[in-house]
Amino acid sequence: MAKRERWASRIGVILAMAGNAIGLGNFLRFPVQAAQNGGGAFMIPYFVALLIFGIPLAWCEWAMGRLGGTNRHGSSPGVLGMLWKHPAAKYLGALGICLPLGVLIYYLYVESWTLSYSFFSVLWDFMGKTTMADMKSFLTDYQGVETKAGVTVMAYVFFLLTVGANYWIMSGGIAKGIERLARIGMPALLLLAVVLVARVFTLAPPDPAHPENSVVNGLGFVWNPDLASLRSAKVWLAAAGQVFFTLSVGFGSIQCYASYMRRRDDIVVTGLSSSVLNEFVEVILGASIAIPAAYVFFGHAGTVEIAKSGSFNLGFVAMPAIFQQMPGGAVFGLFWFFLLFIAGLTSSVALAQPAIAFLQDELGWSHKRSLRSVWIFLVLAGHVPILGLAAGALDEMDFWAGTIGLALFALIESIVFIWIFGAQRAWDEIHIGAEERIPRVFFYILKYVTPVALLAILIAWGWQQGADVISMKGVDPAQRAWRWAARALLLGMIATTCWLIRRAWSRKQEAGP
Ligand code: PHE
Repeated sequence: MAKRERWASRIGVILAMAGNAIGLGNFLRFPVQAAQNGGGAFMIPYFVALLIFGIPLAWCEWAMGRLGGTNRHGSSPGVLGMLWKHPAAKYLGALGICLPLGVLIYYLYVESWTLSYSFFSVLWDFMGKTTMADMKSFLTDYQGVETKAGVTVMAYVFFLLTVGANYWIMSGGIAKGIERLARIGMPALLLLAVVLVARVFTLAPPDPAHPENSVVNGLGFVWNPDLASLRSAKVWLAAAGQVFFTLSVGFGSIQCYASYMRRRDDIVVTGLSSSVLNEFVEVILGASIAIPAAYVFFGHAGTVEIAKSGSFNLGFVAMPAIFQQMPGGAVFGLFWFFLLFIAGLTSSVALAQPAIAFLQDELGWSHKRSLRSVWIFLVLAGHVPILGLAAGALDEMDFWAGTIGLALFALIESIVFIWIFGAQRAWDEIHIGAEERIPRVFFYILKYVTPVALLAILIAWGWQQGADVISMKGVDPAQRAWRWAARALLLGMIATTCWLIRRAWSRKQEAGP
Protein backbone atom coordinates (compact mmCIF):
# COMPACT_ATOMS: atom_id res chain seq x y z
CA MET A 1 0.00 0.00 0.00
CA ALA A 2 1.37 3.40 -0.92
CA LYS A 3 2.55 5.62 1.93
CA ARG A 4 -0.03 8.09 3.08
CA GLU A 5 0.89 11.74 2.51
CA ARG A 6 2.06 14.02 5.33
CA TRP A 7 2.53 17.71 5.87
CA ALA A 8 6.13 18.70 5.30
CA SER A 9 6.57 21.06 8.26
CA ARG A 10 4.94 22.36 11.38
CA ILE A 11 4.66 25.92 10.13
CA GLY A 12 3.15 24.44 6.98
CA VAL A 13 0.38 22.78 9.02
CA ILE A 14 -0.36 25.99 10.90
CA LEU A 15 -0.53 27.98 7.67
CA ALA A 16 -2.59 25.36 5.84
CA MET A 17 -5.05 25.16 8.75
CA ALA A 18 -5.15 28.95 8.98
CA GLY A 19 -5.76 29.03 5.22
CA ASN A 20 -8.56 26.54 5.73
CA ALA A 21 -10.17 28.72 8.38
CA ILE A 22 -9.44 32.17 6.95
CA GLY A 23 -11.82 32.57 4.06
CA LEU A 24 -14.65 34.57 2.61
CA GLY A 25 -16.26 34.11 6.01
CA ASN A 26 -13.72 36.44 7.63
CA PHE A 27 -13.97 39.29 5.17
CA LEU A 28 -17.55 39.07 3.87
CA ARG A 29 -19.69 37.04 6.24
CA PHE A 30 -18.35 38.36 9.55
CA PRO A 31 -18.77 42.11 8.90
CA VAL A 32 -22.26 41.54 7.55
CA GLN A 33 -23.28 39.38 10.53
CA ALA A 34 -21.87 41.92 12.95
CA ALA A 35 -23.65 44.84 11.27
CA GLN A 36 -26.95 42.98 10.95
CA ASN A 37 -26.95 41.96 14.58
CA GLY A 38 -26.30 45.26 16.27
CA GLY A 39 -22.56 45.77 15.80
CA GLY A 40 -20.91 45.63 19.21
CA ALA A 41 -23.81 43.68 20.67
CA PHE A 42 -22.86 40.81 18.42
CA MET A 43 -19.35 40.63 19.81
CA ILE A 44 -20.34 39.39 23.28
CA PRO A 45 -22.15 36.23 22.15
CA TYR A 46 -19.47 35.85 19.51
CA PHE A 47 -16.70 35.60 22.11
CA VAL A 48 -18.80 33.36 24.34
CA ALA A 49 -19.42 31.04 21.38
CA LEU A 50 -15.72 31.08 20.63
CA LEU A 51 -14.94 29.87 24.15
CA ILE A 52 -17.64 27.23 24.52
CA PHE A 53 -17.85 25.94 20.93
CA GLY A 54 -15.14 27.18 18.63
CA ILE A 55 -11.83 26.66 20.38
CA PRO A 56 -12.69 23.47 22.34
CA LEU A 57 -14.36 21.78 19.37
CA ALA A 58 -11.42 22.69 17.16
CA TRP A 59 -9.10 20.86 19.56
CA CYS A 60 -11.39 17.83 19.45
CA GLU A 61 -11.43 17.84 15.66
CA TRP A 62 -7.65 18.10 15.47
CA ALA A 63 -7.36 15.16 17.86
CA MET A 64 -9.94 13.05 16.03
CA GLY A 65 -8.25 13.69 12.72
CA ARG A 66 -4.76 12.91 13.95
CA LEU A 67 -6.07 9.68 15.48
CA GLY A 68 -7.87 8.76 12.26
CA GLY A 69 -4.71 9.34 10.26
CA THR A 70 -2.87 6.65 12.23
CA ASN A 71 -5.33 4.18 10.71
CA ARG A 72 -5.40 5.74 7.25
CA HIS A 73 -8.75 7.40 7.82
CA GLY A 74 -8.84 11.01 6.64
CA SER A 75 -12.58 11.53 6.58
CA SER A 76 -15.36 11.34 9.16
CA PRO A 77 -16.86 7.91 8.36
CA GLY A 78 -13.56 6.24 9.22
CA VAL A 79 -12.84 8.53 12.16
CA LEU A 80 -16.26 8.10 13.79
CA GLY A 81 -16.09 4.38 13.10
CA MET A 82 -12.84 4.21 15.06
CA LEU A 83 -14.18 6.13 18.01
CA TRP A 84 -17.46 4.27 18.26
CA LYS A 85 -17.54 0.60 17.40
CA HIS A 86 -21.09 0.55 16.19
CA PRO A 87 -22.20 -0.16 12.63
CA ALA A 88 -24.13 3.12 12.49
CA ALA A 89 -21.15 5.29 13.40
CA LYS A 90 -19.63 5.36 9.95
CA TYR A 91 -22.89 6.50 8.35
CA LEU A 92 -23.04 9.51 10.68
CA GLY A 93 -19.72 10.44 9.13
CA ALA A 94 -21.39 10.98 5.76
CA LEU A 95 -22.17 14.48 7.00
CA GLY A 96 -18.47 15.18 7.40
CA ILE A 97 -18.09 14.75 3.64
CA CYS A 98 -21.37 16.19 2.40
CA LEU A 99 -21.37 19.38 4.49
CA PRO A 100 -18.03 20.68 3.20
CA LEU A 101 -18.88 19.55 -0.32
CA GLY A 102 -22.34 21.09 -0.08
CA VAL A 103 -20.83 24.41 1.01
CA LEU A 104 -18.18 24.19 -1.68
CA ILE A 105 -20.80 23.89 -4.43
CA TYR A 106 -21.82 27.52 -3.88
CA TYR A 107 -18.60 28.80 -2.29
CA LEU A 108 -16.81 28.20 -5.61
CA TYR A 109 -19.21 30.43 -7.45
CA VAL A 110 -18.70 33.30 -5.02
CA GLU A 111 -14.95 32.70 -5.17
CA SER A 112 -15.14 33.05 -8.95
CA TRP A 113 -16.68 36.53 -8.57
CA THR A 114 -13.64 37.61 -6.54
CA LEU A 115 -11.44 36.52 -9.42
CA SER A 116 -13.46 38.31 -12.08
CA TYR A 117 -13.75 41.44 -9.95
CA SER A 118 -9.95 41.46 -9.59
CA PHE A 119 -9.80 41.72 -13.37
CA PHE A 120 -12.55 44.32 -13.50
CA SER A 121 -10.60 46.45 -11.01
CA VAL A 122 -7.50 46.38 -13.18
CA LEU A 123 -9.49 47.12 -16.32
CA TRP A 124 -11.38 49.79 -14.37
CA ASP A 125 -14.61 48.28 -15.62
CA PHE A 126 -16.84 49.83 -13.03
CA MET A 127 -15.62 53.32 -13.86
CA GLY A 128 -18.25 55.94 -13.05
CA LYS A 129 -20.52 53.52 -11.20
CA THR A 130 -20.25 55.24 -7.86
CA THR A 131 -23.71 54.70 -6.47
CA MET A 132 -25.00 51.58 -4.81
CA ALA A 133 -27.75 51.21 -7.41
CA ASP A 134 -25.29 51.35 -10.32
CA MET A 135 -22.92 48.84 -8.74
CA LYS A 136 -25.81 46.58 -7.86
CA SER A 137 -26.92 46.43 -11.47
CA PHE A 138 -23.32 45.88 -12.53
CA LEU A 139 -23.29 42.80 -10.30
CA THR A 140 -26.61 41.42 -11.49
CA ASP A 141 -25.70 42.10 -15.12
CA TYR A 142 -22.48 40.20 -14.60
CA GLN A 143 -24.29 37.29 -12.97
CA GLY A 144 -26.91 37.34 -15.69
CA VAL A 145 -29.65 36.53 -13.22
CA GLU A 146 -32.22 38.47 -15.22
CA THR A 147 -31.33 36.93 -18.57
CA LYS A 148 -33.05 33.91 -20.01
CA ALA A 149 -29.97 31.75 -19.55
CA GLY A 150 -29.69 32.79 -15.89
CA VAL A 151 -25.93 33.22 -16.22
CA THR A 152 -23.57 35.13 -18.50
CA VAL A 153 -20.75 33.65 -20.54
CA MET A 154 -18.32 35.77 -18.55
CA ALA A 155 -19.53 34.54 -15.16
CA TYR A 156 -19.50 30.98 -16.42
CA VAL A 157 -15.96 31.27 -17.77
CA PHE A 158 -14.70 32.67 -14.46
CA PHE A 159 -16.43 29.84 -12.64
CA LEU A 160 -14.55 27.34 -14.80
CA LEU A 161 -11.27 29.23 -14.31
CA THR A 162 -11.76 29.06 -10.55
CA VAL A 163 -12.43 25.33 -10.75
CA GLY A 164 -9.27 24.97 -12.86
CA ALA A 165 -7.16 26.87 -10.33
CA ASN A 166 -8.40 24.66 -7.49
CA TYR A 167 -7.85 21.50 -9.50
CA TRP A 168 -4.35 22.53 -10.49
CA ILE A 169 -3.32 23.24 -6.89
CA MET A 170 -4.88 20.08 -5.54
CA SER A 171 -3.19 17.94 -8.16
CA GLY A 172 0.03 18.63 -6.21
CA GLY A 173 -1.43 16.77 -3.23
CA ILE A 174 -1.03 17.73 0.43
CA ALA A 175 2.56 18.94 0.85
CA LYS A 176 3.29 20.08 -2.69
CA GLY A 177 -0.16 21.44 -3.42
CA ILE A 178 -2.13 22.65 -0.41
CA GLU A 179 0.81 23.35 1.90
CA ARG A 180 2.74 25.22 -0.74
CA LEU A 181 -0.30 27.34 -1.58
CA ALA A 182 -0.69 28.26 2.09
CA ARG A 183 2.97 29.13 2.46
CA ILE A 184 2.72 31.68 -0.33
CA GLY A 185 -0.91 32.67 0.04
CA MET A 186 -1.15 33.33 3.78
CA PRO A 187 1.69 35.90 4.02
CA ALA A 188 0.38 37.58 0.85
CA LEU A 189 -3.10 37.71 2.32
CA LEU A 190 -1.88 39.24 5.58
CA LEU A 191 0.09 41.85 3.71
CA LEU A 192 -2.84 42.85 1.50
CA ALA A 193 -5.15 43.01 4.50
CA VAL A 194 -2.79 45.24 6.46
CA VAL A 195 -2.37 47.60 3.50
CA LEU A 196 -6.14 47.83 3.12
CA VAL A 197 -6.65 48.50 6.82
CA ALA A 198 -4.04 51.26 6.65
CA ARG A 199 -5.84 52.79 3.66
CA VAL A 200 -9.21 52.69 5.40
CA PHE A 201 -7.81 54.15 8.63
CA THR A 202 -6.41 57.15 6.78
CA LEU A 203 -9.67 57.98 4.99
CA ALA A 204 -10.87 61.50 5.73
CA PRO A 205 -14.64 62.00 5.95
CA PRO A 206 -15.48 62.79 2.30
CA ASP A 207 -18.49 64.93 3.10
CA PRO A 208 -17.75 67.96 5.35
CA ALA A 209 -21.46 68.26 6.09
CA HIS A 210 -21.32 64.86 7.82
CA PRO A 211 -18.21 64.76 9.98
CA GLU A 212 -19.82 61.97 12.02
CA ASN A 213 -19.29 59.58 9.09
CA SER A 214 -15.76 58.81 10.20
CA VAL A 215 -13.58 55.76 10.55
CA VAL A 216 -13.58 56.11 14.32
CA ASN A 217 -17.36 56.03 14.46
CA GLY A 218 -17.36 53.08 12.06
CA LEU A 219 -15.09 51.19 14.44
CA GLY A 220 -17.25 52.29 17.34
CA PHE A 221 -20.22 50.73 15.61
CA VAL A 222 -18.40 47.38 15.49
CA TRP A 223 -17.05 47.56 19.01
CA ASN A 224 -19.46 49.40 21.33
CA PRO A 225 -21.61 46.76 22.96
CA ASP A 226 -25.32 47.38 23.12
CA LEU A 227 -26.39 45.15 25.96
CA ALA A 228 -30.09 45.20 25.15
CA SER A 229 -29.82 42.85 22.19
CA LEU A 230 -28.21 40.15 24.33
CA ARG A 231 -31.70 38.97 25.14
CA SER A 232 -32.39 38.11 21.54
CA ALA A 233 -31.99 34.41 20.70
CA LYS A 234 -31.46 35.33 17.08
CA VAL A 235 -28.26 37.22 17.89
CA TRP A 236 -26.87 34.25 19.82
CA LEU A 237 -27.65 31.91 16.97
CA ALA A 238 -26.03 34.16 14.44
CA ALA A 239 -22.93 34.49 16.62
CA ALA A 240 -22.59 30.74 17.15
CA GLY A 241 -23.14 30.11 13.44
CA GLN A 242 -20.42 32.56 12.51
CA VAL A 243 -17.93 31.00 14.94
CA PHE A 244 -18.47 27.57 13.40
CA PHE A 245 -18.26 28.86 9.88
CA THR A 246 -15.15 30.94 10.33
CA LEU A 247 -13.14 28.37 12.29
CA SER A 248 -14.24 25.63 9.85
CA VAL A 249 -15.55 23.71 12.87
CA GLY A 250 -18.41 21.23 12.46
CA PHE A 251 -17.61 20.42 8.84
CA GLY A 252 -15.18 17.52 8.91
CA SER A 253 -12.53 19.57 7.21
CA ILE A 254 -10.19 20.07 10.18
CA GLN A 255 -10.19 16.33 10.87
CA CYS A 256 -9.16 15.74 7.31
CA TYR A 257 -6.22 18.14 7.42
CA ALA A 258 -5.16 16.84 10.84
CA SER A 259 -5.11 13.27 9.51
CA TYR A 260 -1.96 14.15 7.58
CA MET A 261 -0.07 14.82 10.83
CA ARG A 262 2.13 12.43 12.75
CA ARG A 263 0.92 10.67 15.88
CA ARG A 264 3.09 12.69 18.25
CA ASP A 265 2.82 16.09 16.58
CA ASP A 266 1.56 18.69 19.04
CA ILE A 267 -2.00 19.81 18.44
CA VAL A 268 -2.71 21.86 21.55
CA VAL A 269 -0.43 24.75 20.63
CA THR A 270 -0.63 24.23 16.88
CA GLY A 271 -4.42 24.09 16.93
CA LEU A 272 -4.69 27.16 19.12
CA SER A 273 -2.24 29.07 16.93
CA SER A 274 -4.24 28.61 13.78
CA SER A 275 -7.52 29.43 15.55
CA VAL A 276 -5.97 32.57 17.01
CA LEU A 277 -4.61 33.57 13.63
CA ASN A 278 -8.08 33.17 12.18
CA GLU A 279 -9.59 35.32 14.92
CA PHE A 280 -6.97 38.01 14.43
CA VAL A 281 -7.78 38.15 10.74
CA GLU A 282 -11.50 38.13 11.46
CA VAL A 283 -12.07 40.55 14.32
CA ILE A 284 -9.06 42.82 13.84
CA LEU A 285 -8.48 42.92 10.08
CA GLY A 286 -11.87 41.74 8.78
CA ALA A 287 -13.73 44.19 11.00
CA SER A 288 -11.48 47.08 10.03
CA ILE A 289 -11.96 47.14 6.26
CA ALA A 290 -15.44 46.87 4.81
CA ILE A 291 -17.53 48.21 7.71
CA PRO A 292 -15.51 51.35 8.52
CA ALA A 293 -15.11 52.08 4.80
CA ALA A 294 -18.85 51.77 4.23
CA TYR A 295 -19.45 53.94 7.29
CA VAL A 296 -17.31 56.76 5.94
CA PHE A 297 -19.06 56.85 2.59
CA PHE A 298 -22.60 55.79 3.47
CA GLY A 299 -22.99 56.70 7.14
CA HIS A 300 -24.58 54.66 9.92
CA ALA A 301 -27.99 54.08 8.37
CA GLY A 302 -26.46 53.36 4.97
CA THR A 303 -24.09 50.75 6.39
CA VAL A 304 -26.81 48.93 8.27
CA GLU A 305 -28.97 48.97 5.16
CA ILE A 306 -26.20 47.54 2.96
CA ALA A 307 -25.54 44.77 5.44
CA LYS A 308 -29.23 43.91 5.70
CA SER A 309 -29.60 43.79 1.92
CA GLY A 310 -27.56 40.59 1.64
CA SER A 311 -24.16 39.15 2.36
CA PHE A 312 -22.62 39.95 -0.98
CA ASN A 313 -23.61 43.55 -1.27
CA LEU A 314 -21.02 44.81 1.15
CA GLY A 315 -18.10 43.20 -0.65
CA PHE A 316 -19.21 43.36 -4.27
CA VAL A 317 -21.42 46.44 -4.35
CA ALA A 318 -20.39 48.88 -1.63
CA MET A 319 -16.65 48.29 -1.82
CA PRO A 320 -16.21 48.92 -5.57
CA ALA A 321 -18.33 52.07 -5.25
CA ILE A 322 -16.10 53.19 -2.39
CA PHE A 323 -12.82 52.45 -4.16
CA GLN A 324 -13.77 54.73 -7.00
CA GLN A 325 -14.12 57.62 -4.62
CA MET A 326 -10.67 57.24 -3.11
CA PRO A 327 -7.30 58.16 -4.61
CA GLY A 328 -5.55 55.09 -6.02
CA GLY A 329 -8.84 53.23 -5.94
CA ALA A 330 -8.04 50.90 -8.85
CA VAL A 331 -5.05 49.49 -7.01
CA PHE A 332 -6.90 49.12 -3.71
CA GLY A 333 -9.82 47.53 -5.54
CA LEU A 334 -7.47 44.97 -7.01
CA PHE A 335 -5.96 44.35 -3.56
CA TRP A 336 -9.38 43.81 -2.04
CA PHE A 337 -10.67 41.34 -4.60
CA PHE A 338 -7.40 39.49 -4.88
CA LEU A 339 -7.26 39.23 -1.10
CA LEU A 340 -10.73 37.67 -1.21
CA PHE A 341 -9.62 35.31 -3.96
CA ILE A 342 -6.64 34.01 -1.96
CA ALA A 343 -8.81 33.68 1.14
CA GLY A 344 -11.38 31.76 -0.91
CA LEU A 345 -8.88 29.52 -2.64
CA THR A 346 -7.11 28.32 0.51
CA SER A 347 -10.56 27.46 1.92
CA SER A 348 -12.06 25.83 -1.14
CA VAL A 349 -9.27 23.28 -1.35
CA ALA A 350 -9.99 22.47 2.30
CA LEU A 351 -13.67 21.99 1.56
CA ALA A 352 -12.89 19.54 -1.25
CA GLN A 353 -10.27 17.49 0.57
CA PRO A 354 -12.55 15.37 2.83
CA ALA A 355 -14.34 13.90 -0.20
CA ILE A 356 -11.05 13.22 -1.94
CA ALA A 357 -9.55 11.64 1.18
CA PHE A 358 -12.64 9.45 1.51
CA LEU A 359 -12.36 8.08 -2.02
CA GLN A 360 -8.64 7.49 -1.62
CA ASP A 361 -8.59 6.07 1.90
CA GLU A 362 -11.77 4.06 1.96
CA LEU A 363 -12.35 3.04 -1.65
CA GLY A 364 -8.69 2.75 -2.53
CA TRP A 365 -8.96 5.01 -5.57
CA SER A 366 -5.86 6.74 -6.88
CA HIS A 367 -5.35 10.41 -6.06
CA LYS A 368 -5.92 11.35 -9.66
CA ARG A 369 -9.14 9.42 -10.01
CA SER A 370 -10.50 10.77 -6.70
CA LEU A 371 -9.57 14.32 -7.64
CA ARG A 372 -11.18 14.10 -11.06
CA SER A 373 -14.40 12.54 -9.81
CA VAL A 374 -14.88 15.14 -7.09
CA TRP A 375 -14.19 18.08 -9.40
CA ILE A 376 -16.39 16.80 -12.21
CA PHE A 377 -19.16 16.43 -9.68
CA LEU A 378 -18.56 19.97 -8.42
CA VAL A 379 -18.82 21.48 -11.90
CA LEU A 380 -22.09 19.66 -12.54
CA ALA A 381 -23.59 20.39 -9.12
CA GLY A 382 -22.46 24.02 -9.38
CA HIS A 383 -25.22 24.61 -11.89
CA VAL A 384 -27.81 24.56 -9.10
CA PRO A 385 -26.55 27.66 -7.24
CA ILE A 386 -25.49 29.30 -10.52
CA LEU A 387 -28.75 28.96 -12.42
CA GLY A 388 -30.89 29.14 -9.29
CA LEU A 389 -29.13 32.20 -7.91
CA ALA A 390 -32.06 34.58 -8.33
CA ALA A 391 -34.39 32.01 -6.77
CA GLY A 392 -32.23 31.74 -3.66
CA ALA A 393 -30.78 28.27 -4.31
CA LEU A 394 -27.46 29.51 -2.95
CA ASP A 395 -29.02 30.78 0.28
CA GLU A 396 -30.91 27.53 0.65
CA MET A 397 -27.68 25.53 0.46
CA ASP A 398 -25.93 27.94 2.80
CA PHE A 399 -28.66 27.48 5.34
CA TRP A 400 -28.81 23.66 5.31
CA ALA A 401 -25.18 22.79 4.73
CA GLY A 402 -23.52 25.91 6.14
CA THR A 403 -25.65 26.59 9.23
CA ILE A 404 -27.99 23.91 10.57
CA GLY A 405 -25.86 21.05 9.29
CA LEU A 406 -22.84 22.35 11.17
CA ALA A 407 -24.59 22.53 14.51
CA LEU A 408 -25.97 19.03 14.00
CA PHE A 409 -22.66 17.52 13.00
CA ALA A 410 -20.84 19.28 15.84
CA LEU A 411 -23.35 17.79 18.27
CA ILE A 412 -22.87 14.30 16.80
CA GLU A 413 -19.11 14.62 16.98
CA SER A 414 -19.02 15.89 20.51
CA ILE A 415 -21.30 13.10 21.70
CA VAL A 416 -19.27 10.42 19.96
CA PHE A 417 -15.89 11.77 21.05
CA ILE A 418 -16.68 12.96 24.58
CA TRP A 419 -19.49 10.71 25.69
CA ILE A 420 -19.03 7.48 23.76
CA PHE A 421 -15.28 7.35 23.28
CA GLY A 422 -15.01 8.82 26.78
CA ALA A 423 -14.21 12.24 28.19
CA GLN A 424 -10.95 11.29 29.90
CA ARG A 425 -9.76 9.26 26.90
CA ALA A 426 -10.59 12.16 24.61
CA TRP A 427 -8.75 14.57 26.89
CA ASP A 428 -5.68 12.30 26.94
CA GLU A 429 -5.86 11.89 23.18
CA ILE A 430 -5.80 15.65 22.70
CA HIS A 431 -2.72 15.89 24.94
CA ILE A 432 -0.59 13.31 23.15
CA GLY A 433 2.64 15.04 22.18
CA ALA A 434 1.36 18.30 23.69
CA GLU A 435 3.81 21.00 24.68
CA GLU A 436 1.31 22.70 26.96
CA ARG A 437 -1.71 21.48 28.87
CA ILE A 438 -5.12 22.93 28.18
CA PRO A 439 -6.68 24.52 31.31
CA ARG A 440 -8.87 21.94 32.99
CA VAL A 441 -11.95 24.15 32.80
CA PHE A 442 -12.19 23.25 29.11
CA PHE A 443 -12.62 19.61 30.09
CA TYR A 444 -15.87 20.50 31.84
CA ILE A 445 -16.92 22.85 29.10
CA LEU A 446 -16.47 20.10 26.55
CA LYS A 447 -18.18 17.50 28.65
CA TYR A 448 -21.25 19.47 29.66
CA VAL A 449 -21.56 22.95 28.27
CA THR A 450 -20.78 22.32 24.60
CA PRO A 451 -23.21 19.46 23.93
CA VAL A 452 -26.00 20.90 26.06
CA ALA A 453 -25.70 24.32 24.41
CA LEU A 454 -25.66 22.76 20.95
CA LEU A 455 -28.70 20.69 21.73
CA ALA A 456 -30.47 23.74 23.12
CA ILE A 457 -29.74 25.71 19.97
CA LEU A 458 -31.07 22.97 17.72
CA ILE A 459 -34.18 22.41 19.79
CA ALA A 460 -34.90 26.13 20.06
CA TRP A 461 -34.53 26.50 16.33
CA GLY A 462 -36.74 23.48 15.59
CA TRP A 463 -39.37 24.75 17.96
CA GLN A 464 -39.44 28.36 16.83
CA GLN A 465 -38.89 28.10 13.10
CA GLY A 466 -38.33 24.49 12.04
CA ALA A 467 -41.73 23.82 10.51
CA ASP A 468 -41.91 27.19 8.77
CA VAL A 469 -38.47 26.88 7.27
CA ILE A 470 -38.99 23.32 6.09
CA SER A 471 -42.32 24.15 4.49
CA MET A 472 -40.82 27.32 2.97
CA LYS A 473 -43.48 29.49 4.55
CA GLY A 474 -43.42 32.98 3.09
CA VAL A 475 -41.14 32.01 0.20
CA ASP A 476 -42.23 33.27 -3.18
CA PRO A 477 -43.79 30.25 -5.00
CA ALA A 478 -41.73 31.09 -8.09
CA GLN A 479 -38.57 30.40 -6.09
CA ARG A 480 -39.60 27.08 -4.67
CA ALA A 481 -38.54 24.81 -7.52
CA TRP A 482 -34.91 25.91 -7.34
CA ARG A 483 -34.88 25.75 -3.60
CA TRP A 484 -36.23 22.23 -3.71
CA ALA A 485 -33.59 21.36 -6.26
CA ALA A 486 -30.94 22.59 -3.82
CA ARG A 487 -32.39 20.43 -1.04
CA ALA A 488 -32.67 17.43 -3.33
CA LEU A 489 -29.06 17.85 -4.32
CA LEU A 490 -27.92 17.80 -0.69
CA LEU A 491 -30.08 14.82 0.20
CA GLY A 492 -28.93 12.99 -2.90
CA MET A 493 -25.34 13.59 -1.91
CA ILE A 494 -25.92 12.17 1.56
CA ALA A 495 -27.65 9.09 0.15
CA THR A 496 -24.87 8.48 -2.38
CA THR A 497 -22.21 8.89 0.27
CA CYS A 498 -23.93 6.38 2.56
CA TRP A 499 -24.08 3.95 -0.32
CA LEU A 500 -20.37 4.40 -0.99
CA ILE A 501 -19.60 3.94 2.71
CA ARG A 502 -21.47 0.65 2.66
CA ARG A 503 -19.54 -0.48 -0.37
CA ALA A 504 -16.22 0.52 1.11
CA TRP A 505 -16.81 -1.31 4.38
CA SER A 506 -18.06 -4.49 2.80
CA ARG A 507 -15.03 -4.42 0.51
CA LYS A 508 -12.79 -4.20 3.57
CA GLN A 509 -14.56 -7.07 5.25
CA GLU A 510 -13.98 -9.26 2.22
CA ALA A 511 -10.33 -8.31 2.22
CA GLY A 512 -10.12 -9.36 5.88
CA PRO A 513 -8.84 -7.30 8.79
N1 PHE B 1 -13.77 28.95 7.35
C1 PHE B 1 -13.98 29.25 5.98
C2 PHE B 1 -14.36 30.71 5.83
O1 PHE B 1 -14.34 31.46 6.76
C3 PHE B 1 -15.04 28.38 5.37
C4 PHE B 1 -14.67 26.95 5.47
C5 PHE B 1 -15.40 26.07 6.23
C6 PHE B 1 -13.55 26.46 4.85
C7 PHE B 1 -15.04 24.74 6.34
C8 PHE B 1 -13.18 25.13 4.95
C9 PHE B 1 -13.93 24.28 5.71
O2 PHE B 1 -14.69 31.16 4.76
